[in-house]
Amino acid sequence: MKFISPFRILFVILVLQETIIPLRADEKFIQDTCKHTEYYDLCMSILLANPKSRTADLSELALIGVDEVKNKGITIIQKIEDFRKSQPELKMDLDYCYDAYNTTVKVDVPLAVQALSLGRVMFAEDGIADAAVEADACEDTFSQNGHTSPMTDLNTDMNHVANTIRQIIRQLY
Ligand SMILES: *[C@@H]1O[C@H](CO)[C@@H](O)[C@H](O)[C@H]1NC(C)=O
Repeated sequence: MKFISPFRILFVILVLQETIIPLRADEKFIQDTCKHTEYYDLCMSILLANPKSRTADLSELALIGVDEVKNKGITIIQKIEDFRKSQPELKMDLDYCYDAYNTTVKVDVPLAVQALSLGRVMFAEDGIADAAVEADACEDTFSQNGHTSPMTDLNTDMNHVANTIRQIIRQLY
């Protein structure tokens, strides 16, 4: 039987460590980040959907999350356009919601992106906290006007996404 030198074994172990463990560490970093959020599965699905998350640091994970807030906001604005056609009696409420989500996409998200790139964590947190507030304000306007919201799921979804990203941003303090 051929003798395998312990040094050779050690060398192989070191090489394996270099190539395998960093990949695991990245996935574990995402898991650890999401463990600090209320909606773990949502957090994981948002971050893992973007391949860049595998090599991202915490600040970059936060940016990936902010991007999801933006995409969700754009999708919801499109749905609001559809509701305007299908439920014209809700025009007042839907106009309000349009403004709310426009604020998310045009003000809150750019503010958070800029703040993250400058390392101004508090401003980034404020921006994304407001995205959750806007979603709640949209939802509440229907009942305040004596109407039934046709978009409770969308508003709840945005609230959960924005709060999840906020909880990622908070880990940067
Ligand atoms: C959306 O918000 C931006 C920034 O506040 C504003 O300039 C723009 O007029 C808004 N768009 C609409 C369609 O309300």
